[in-house]
Amino acid sequence: MLEHLKEIDHGTPKRESEQEVTLEIDGTQVTVPKGTSLMRAAVDAGIQVPKLCATDSLEPFGSCRLCLVEIDGRKGYPASCTTPAEAGMKVRTQSPRLQELRKGVMELYISDHPLDCLTCSANGNCELQDMAGVTGLRNVRYGFDGANHLDSEKDESNPYFTYDSSKCIVCNRCVRACEETQGTFALTISGRGFESRVSPGMDEPFMESECVSCGACVEACPTATLQEKSIIRLGQPEHSKITTCAYCGVGCGFKAEMKGNEVVRMVPWKDGAANEGHSCVKGRFAWGYATHTDRVTTPMIRKKITDPWQAVSWEEAIGHAASEFKRIQAKHGRDSIGGIVSSRCTNEEGYLVQKLVRAAFGNNNVDTCARVCHSPTGYGLKQTLGESAGTQTFKSVEKADVILVMGANPTDGHPVFASRMKKRLREGAKLIVIDPRKIDIVKSPHIKAEYHLQLRPGTNVAVITALAHVIATEGLMANKYIAERCDGKSFSEWREFVSRHENSPEATAATTGVPAADLRAAARLYATGGNAAIYYGLGVTEHSQGSTTVMGIANLAMATGNVGREGVGVNPLRGQNNVQGSCDIGSFPHELPGYRHVSDTTVRTEFEAAWGVSLQSEPGLRIPNMFDAAIDGSFMGLYCEGEDIVQSDPDTQHVAHALEAMECIVVQDLFLNETAKYAHVFLPGSSFLEKDGTFTNAERRISRVRKVMPPAAKYADWEVTMLLSNALGYPMNYKHPKEIMAEIAALTPTFSGVSYEVIDKLGSVQWPCNAAAPNGTPTLHIDHFVRGSGKFVITQYVASDEKVTRKFPLILTTGRILSQYNVGAQTRRTDNNQWHSEDRLEIHPVDAEDRGIKDGDWVGIQSRAGDTVLRAIVSERMQPGVVYTTFHFPESGANVITTDNSDWATNCPEYKVTAVQVMPVSQPSEWQREFGRFDKVQAELFGQRHKVEAK
Ligand code: SF4
Ligand code: SF4
Ligand code: SF4
Ligand code: FES
Repeated sequence: MLEHLKEIDHGTPKRESEQEVTLEIDGTQVTVPKGTSLMRAAVDAGIQVPKLCATDSLEPFGSCRLCLVEIDGRKGYPASCTTPAEAGMKVRTQSPRLQELRKGVMELYISDHPLDCLTCSANGNCELQDMAGVTGLRNVRYGFDGANHLDSEKDESNPYFTYDSSKCIVCNRCVRACEETQGTFALTISGRGFESRVSPGMDEPFMESECVSCGACVEACPTATLQEKSIIRLGQPEHSKITTCAYCGVGCGFKAEMKGNEVVRMVPWKDGAANEGHSCVKGRFAWGYATHTDRVTTPMIRKKITDPWQAVSWEEAIGHAASEFKRIQAKHGRDSIGGIVSSRCTNEEGYLVQKLVRAAFGNNNVDTCARVCHSPTGYGLKQTLGESAGTQTFKSVEKADVILVMGANPTDGHPVFASRMKKRLREGAKLIVIDPRKIDIVKSPHIKAEYHLQLRPGTNVAVITALAHVIATEGLMANKYIAERCDGKSFSEWREFVSRHENSPEATAATTGVPAADLRAAARLYATGGNAAIYYGLGVTEHSQGSTTVMGIANLAMATGNVGREGVGVNPLRGQNNVQGSCDIGSFPHELPGYRHVSDTTVRTEFEAAWGVSLQSEPGLRIPNMFDAAIDGSFMGLYCEGEDIVQSDPDTQHVAHALEAMECIVVQDLFLNETAKYAHVFLPGSSFLEKDGTFTNAERRISRVRKVMPPAAKYADWEVTMLLSNALGYPMNYKHPKEIMAEIAALTPTFSGVSYEVIDKLGSVQWPCNAAAPNGTPTLHIDHFVRGSGKFVITQYVASDEKVTRKFPLILTTGRILSQYNVGAQTRRTDNNQWHSEDRLEIHPVDAEDRGIKDGDWVGIQSRAGDTVLRAIVSERMQPGVVYTTFHFPESGANVITTDNSDWATNCPEYKVTAVQVMPVSQPSEWQREFGRFDKVQAELFGQRHKVEAK
């Protein structure tokens, strides 16, 4: 076994109990919490009992009979995995009789198992092989000629793993992993006795079953039966490093298992606090983009976007970018340039970009893609609770009695957290879903929402206020909590406001489309069902009243006393891996790191002293303002790191016009993305596997990203920003990202205790981490709100300007799906395309029939911003009048249709509400044809690049 890669398997899950029991195992005294299995207690005593069907991520099953032990005073040989430890027990794990019994069990297994250990892909990492060794099996008395499964067919349908039934020992671990860990229930054991075999769905191939390719069964399988294809291709790994998934805001910990500089497998890290050994198809399998041949690894420049690219040295590219930025500032003024940094970048990279903009560009024109997703969360939670972040750990959901999911689709967007949530729901917690669509969690195996408030898109505020109305007028408020912890004046005003009849479920039902009785019942459940936790996503924030809804959510939680302990809280499910972090470290134009306004002289003075420059006291331009200023001729240069604004921002044609108007766009990215087609300088980016740093997930958890291979283009992203800063004349000389984190910690009170040493010691840490909380803060607002007293805010519903009309009678709402990720730059370059290779328009059967649209037809979608063409899926997940699409493929042009409406407080675009018309068509839209032409031209200009060796 590759010991250096192997983590201790305790055999059965940890039990929590205030009572402890002390027993003796093989003469060693051991004390464990009541309920702990003998197997786990033995591991605590340093003794590994042989096992096959048990593993510590799953409840014991007791089928293999390998873990038998002897207990003084008890007859027979109980299985140690299913027998709880009791006080005073005397247990023996080894004896000649046990050895004989175990050998017999192994003999049966091996007699129906291919004897190809030496050439098997799991050789050296197979529990069956280990157990044959441990039990001392030397020969098999039954021979290999009897009935067996050695010729069973392999299922190769999944692109990432193989099911080789001939190697299956029917231990049931995969079935239990799919049920207990993932919650999908895709696997069963079909047949009985000798005939029993693992089967996805109704004896289907994996790809045709309900399987979502999370990999939990592969992880649980003790043999080579379920095996990663990368391992079959590349062999067993030689070394590993712990790192963090670069996809969504769950922030799963992974062990990158390597051979030299090549990743052979990403294994979910058991000690990763965000995921506890679980994963989804993206983090587990979709990492191939990092070494995809589309990577551009040579810097390039060009004068005009109609010129061919010229491959140049790093020095030349950086020098050119710096001189262009200086030229533009000399001509158009200091504020004529700015930077955008993706929330996919590390904290350290984000910090350096905002420092570059503020200190080297000399303005505050820095923004991040959190602008277009969770900026209302930052604003709304700061106003009400005093901290721009979620209040809980993910683990906290295990103590929730009522879970309210609003505008989030966790099974697709945040799958590992969804699995955790589903586990709690299967244990009996109640579910309320507020969403225009019938998303999967509304009804899935063993889960059914008590209430699905299927509101009309754009009416979140009316719904949240109506929930508050019920709670306030039916006497369901936590009066003592409110009196002790909240601001009395704002509370009285809020109570008076929400209690008005106009805010009642009955008065708002016509607007929201939610039956008043359901809304009342949901409000009662939320207020009285025990610990109630709210989880929300972009369906809350990406609206013209996104910030208002966030504040409405905080109002509800405060009014019912559901903030400040485990099992409750207000939990934004962040879209990208580092949305939380990019906001924390000052990527917004109005805030320095730690959410401190640039107008605060004391804070600015501190940064001015540390950075040796004077800083502007006025907020800089937000992303949409940058576009407007570009069209006006006052914003002419942009440094864009890791973000594809052309594809991800709303109103694509407006964005493209803005970029065309600029004089110098510098794109730093892995791929020549849509934005790079408008760029004048291309600086190769580095993947998360090629750099050190940290990501902060939706729980405020700061985790390490570790370099497992050298940057494909020589420099990590933070080094490129340094080069640019130095070329601009503002020196940056960090040797390692840990020095950048040290600077963040020194300048940011909530981060003052954060260092790479602390993260390495604790595994990860949730901010605030400082002298008062050296090990971090899992739950916020425990005794009092961060802002002092919780502030209630009036949430007056204002209908979106985006109204259905005769011309545009449907509402389009957008979202994402499990296998693809945002603009798809990463996942489109993996086999995840096998699940979803194009964006489609979901439409209700009634709307489809009205328009003569059938499943699979091409349909034109037109809004006042633009039009595009997609294929239709006719689906009852939609409500009549509402259509839905994803935005993972550039040629779909989903954002050609979305408008420039945005949140009143933060300018977060209103992606979720666009009035459209949908009609059958037979050819791509004009925009799509133009997209195709431009794409072809840009590909040719890239193909013509004159190559020089990057120095
Ligand atoms: S596939 Fe693996 S985990 Fe599942 S029953 Fe067979 S051996 Fe056990
Ligand atoms: S990959 Fe995940 S969803 Fe698919 S069968 Fe395995 S555990 Fe179930
Ligand atoms: S849930 Fe999110 S963080 Fe976890 S593996 Fe999937 S994409 Fe990565
Ligand atoms: S490990 Fe206990 S019965 Fe299989």
